[in-house]
Amino acid sequence: MAHQLLKGKKGIIFGALDERSIAWKTALACVAEGAEITLSNAPIALRMGKINELAKLCNAEVIPADATSTADLDNLMQKAMEIHGGKLDFMLHSIGMSPNVRKNFSYTETNYENFLKTLDISALSLHRVLQSAKKADALNEWGSVVALTYIAAQRAFPGYNDMADAKAMLESIARSFGYHYGFAKKVRVNTVSQSPTVTTAGSGVAGFDVFLDYAEKMSPLGNASAEQCADYCVSLFSDYTRMVTMQNLFHDGGFSFTGVSTPIVEDITKANTL
Ligand code: NAI
Repeated sequence: MAHQLLKGKKGIIFGALDERSIAWKTALACVAEGAEITLSNAPIALRMGKINELAKLCNAEVIPADATSTADLDNLMQKAMEIHGGKLDFMLHSIGMSPNVRKNFSYTETNYENFLKTLDISALSLHRVLQSAKKADALNEWGSVVALTYIAAQRAFPGYNDMADAKAMLESIARSFGYHYGFAKKVRVNTVSQSPTVTTAGSGVAGFDVFLDYAEKMSPLGNASAEQCADYCVSLFSDYTRMVTMQNLFHDGGFSFTGVSTPIVEDITKANTL
């Protein structure tokens, strides 16, 4: 399906851990569309994940950066500009982690140190990425930054725990920084609110399998896959979406605007007649 939509464009893709990662699929899609990319992830993920395999497939360099470290991100911006011989055009923020989810603390009995880490890794990191990029003047005019989010930012999904608050903050940062970066440098900043997707981060959420099925039945088009999310990100990095900024864009097969669906009603009716 490649159309060279990103020919001549250069970007950084954060957060490819393994072949299930949304960032992994997005990296491949960007390269298929003609982009040159640099990959980045936390140092520990570089040791444990498979990013070097992806780097070979994408002919890309890998630069470690902990997204909670401004020094790491400043270094990444400089290195990426050296590698690509100038400024960049796009960045994907595909980063999320909650120590409370990992360690099974419930939302109401939260551990606040963990909570702060969740916010730092999953939300403030977008501010840091944008601040480092702006400080280094690393993005060309009409550059595009996309961060991935989830509808638990707007509605209560109990298993999503403190990640819901992190996503609400992430979306707010995209809006606020998008305002400033737009006026300063015509850079656009958006979040994409993706369907539940089977990945390392996704599967960590309590009751994920049942929820995946529920979302599939609630969405007129079904759940959006990681590959489809990658295609949507490509469109947001391309010149066809130049005037879109500060938005939270639902990429969820219609889930967000469906009140109830026939397959769900049928399931409940069936269960009640058993
Ligand atoms: P994933 O587990 O493959 O990706 C998460 C990435 O965050 C990993 O590569 C991990 O190394 C990275 N990361 C964690 N801490 C970091 C740090 N301190 N510095 C730099 N990187 C760090 O899972 P997935 O699902 O591809 O997640 C990508 C994004 O998509 C996340 O923001 C997630 O919340 C979001 N999302 C995922 C959905 C799902 O159901 N899988 C649904 C909606 C949004």
